[in-house]
Amino acid sequence: MMDTKIIKQFPLLFCLLITACFSSEKLTSEHLNKGKELAFTRSKGNCLACHIIADGELSGNLGPELKNLKGRFNNKGLLRQFIWDATVFNSKTAMPPFGKNKILSEQEIDMIIDYLWQL
Ligand code: HEC
Repeated sequence: MMDTKIIKQFPLLFCLLITACFSSEKLTSEHLNKGKELAFTRSKGNCLACHIIADGELSGNLGPELKNLKGRFNNKGLLRQFIWDATVFNSKTAMPPFGKNKILSEQEIDMIIDYLWQL
């Protein structure tokens, strides 16, 4: 009984899979724009308060310019750790621990990272 039910749902599952594959490309540029928006928005990342980022206006310079982070961090995981809690790397840092203190959600941090990674 159960088995036939699952088999009947195969076409539906297949369609969902195909849709997911084809929409991923479009999702990426939307995703990157969302990441940029989160980084720039004052009530969210507010990264411009302390960092120069390409395209950003009225940025502060307490921290270094955010560019070529691929060369600085070996992988996205390390960059994620830094943004999640910069105090692990420098206990006296002025940078807020965005993940640890729940300033940004896990998904928001991921989107910001994907955006920063291609700068
Ligand atoms: C209140 C100031 C402040 C804010 C806001 C801030 N940072 Fe920082 N950030 C710093 C400082 C200062 C450093 C320099 C390293 C240190 O002190 O730990 C830094 C370093 C970094 C680095 C390491 C860069 C490198 O080349 O070493 C990254 C990546 C980074 N910040 C990302 C972000 C992101 C992403 C945001 C927004 C979500 C953000 N920062 C918001 C102050 C800030």
